[in-house]
Amino acid sequence: MDDKTLMEIAEKARKIAYAPYSEFKVGCALLAKSGKVYTGINIENASYSPTNCAERTAFFKAVSEGEHEFDAIAICGGKGKKADEVCAPCGVCRQVMAEFCKGDFLIILGNTDKTYRHTLSELLPLSFSLNRE
Ligand code: THU
Repeated sequence: MDDKTLMEIAEKARKIAYAPYSEFKVGCALLAKSGKVYTGINIENASYSPTNCAERTAFFKAVSEGEHEFDAIAICGGKGKKADEVCAPCGVCRQVMAEFCKGDFLIILGNTDKTYRHTLSELLPLSFSLNRE
């Protein structure tokens, strides 16, 4: 699947992000090696700290269905109707990625107008992980 197609799925998912407090809506699409795509959205909470980021929502959905191997994730976010130019994953989500993905895991940022490619090892160098290469 190409980067733009995965980002289109992320942007579609973003529409139903539950972000009544920050109004910053995030959507993502996680491509498993099986070929299945798992979407994720941020899910906020009135007491704030239980908030779950879009990326962790997608990983937890996938892992809870038995997936342990992943190729790529497309992430988009922002306050507007259209996603910002770039919404980088938070540190906690990067650590969750490191639990299941090697350094070459592809992280696609941007929006459907333009996408940017990064790898997990670029965004989380020297990570604490059993999967380190
Ligand atoms: N958020 C994500 O969903 N993913 C990230 O990587 C960064 C932040 C969410 C959490 C919160 O609901 C909102 O964006 C503002 O921080």
